[in-house]
Amino acid sequence: MRSTDKTTEAARVMSICNACRYCEGHCAVFQAMELRLEFNADTVDYLANLCHNCGACYHNCQYAPPHEFALNVPAAMAELRQENYGVYAWPGFMGKLFVNNGLWVSLLSIIVITLFAITTAQLTGNDFFSAHANAFYGVIPHNVLAGLFGAVGLFVLLALTLSCIKFWRAMQLPNPLRLNYRQVGQGIKNALTLKYLDGGNGQGCSYPDETPSMARRWFHQFTFWGFMLCFAATSTGTILHYGFDLPAPYGFVSLPKLFGILGGLGLIIGPLGLLALKIKADPTPKGKTNKGMDVSFLVLLMLSAATGLGLMLLRDTSLVGITLCIHLGVVLTLFLSMPYGKFVHGFYRLIALVVFAVETQDHKAIVGTPKTDTQTKIKAA
Ligand code: HEM
Ligand code: SF4
Ligand code: SF4
Repeated sequence: MRSTDKTTEAARVMSICNACRYCEGHCAVFQAMELRLEFNADTVDYLANLCHNCGACYHNCQYAPPHEFALNVPAAMAELRQENYGVYAWPGFMGKLFVNNGLWVSLLSIIVITLFAITTAQLTGNDFFSAHANAFYGVIPHNVLAGLFGAVGLFVLLALTLSCIKFWRAMQLPNPLRLNYRQVGQGIKNALTLKYLDGGNGQGCSYPDETPSMARRWFHQFTFWGFMLCFAATSTGTILHYGFDLPAPYGFVSLPKLFGILGGLGLIIGPLGLLALKIKADPTPKGKTNKGMDVSFLVLLMLSAATGLGLMLLRDTSLVGITLCIHLGVVLTLFLSMPYGKFVHGFYRLIALVVFAVETQDHKAIVGTPKTDTQTKIKAA
């Protein structure tokens, strides 16, 4: 089993916390910790993905620096999370992309936008800066867009699925069909409501400073639901196009437009709020993690929405070509970086919360325990 500086530090802090237990009311991490006496790599990976980095346990800890134990649970968990995103990445060598993530994502976005602009300007010639009768499909044909984004989308889906299977197996979960759906439902509910950003007493978490606040929870909800609505807009647009032979552009009272506008607004308000909180936040509980990864993800989400809404407004003007290239470049970069950037946190956190629901309802640890015959067989299959 893997043993690194990060897994060793996470195991050290958990062993001290397990003797102290002062923070057991704060969040799922401490309740999951209390079900075990030892902390191997799989166990600390699980606990790291349960930690919501609210900072409460750091601000309350009597062993935090300058104490000689120098305990900083959220920092240990955040640094380990960053390491294990790379460990579970598929294909494995691409896990290196979690290092200097903000830098390569920014460079990629510049390259992709430039390529879109150069290719489109070459193909449309003097028409690049003019309005088109059939809006953006006059700039780039629908089939080219569908082919390019379809191929990238399939790769992203494959990479994310295989990464999640690796994590699922490390978490020793059985075949999904053998799960108890009441327990799965509880895990999904805790993920969707971001239960563990409520500070443990419903007053909110210690982010961006020590005063309890629900701000991060609310802005994350705008971001999450904004993203889901934008996804719904694209899906309904695809169904209308291929299923009902109704190509874009759609009127204001149509599902793709309504989902797109509401989702776009959510994806601007949420990431802007999260960025503002991040600027004010105390960096100590976050540890030495890749801030660039969070920031580049937030900026990509926000720009995807802002340029999408801009495209809707500029559709019939001479700026449609350049706006379309910027929008497509940002969205393609977001897609390409999904399996190798902050986006993966949603899946690993969801799986960790499902494990936690199973463990707490069955009152026994699963992750990090010796494998049962059934689990070994499932793993081998
Ligand atoms: C199962 C679903 C999800 C859960 C449980 C979840 C949970 C969390 C938590 C606890 C954080 C704060 C700690 C950290 O930075 O890792 C966070 C950060 C973040 N999440 Fe999610 N998330 C989910 C899905 C999503 C989705 C689908 C999106 C958008 C596409 C998203 C966008 C973000 C962003 C942008 C941040 C960074 C915020 C910051 O840096 O302050 N999340 N998420
Ligand atoms: S973080 Fe500090 S106060 Fe909280 S349980 Fe751990 S050792 Fe105790
Ligand atoms: S930072 Fe918050 S979520 Fe993470 S272990 Fe501490 S109290 Fe729990």
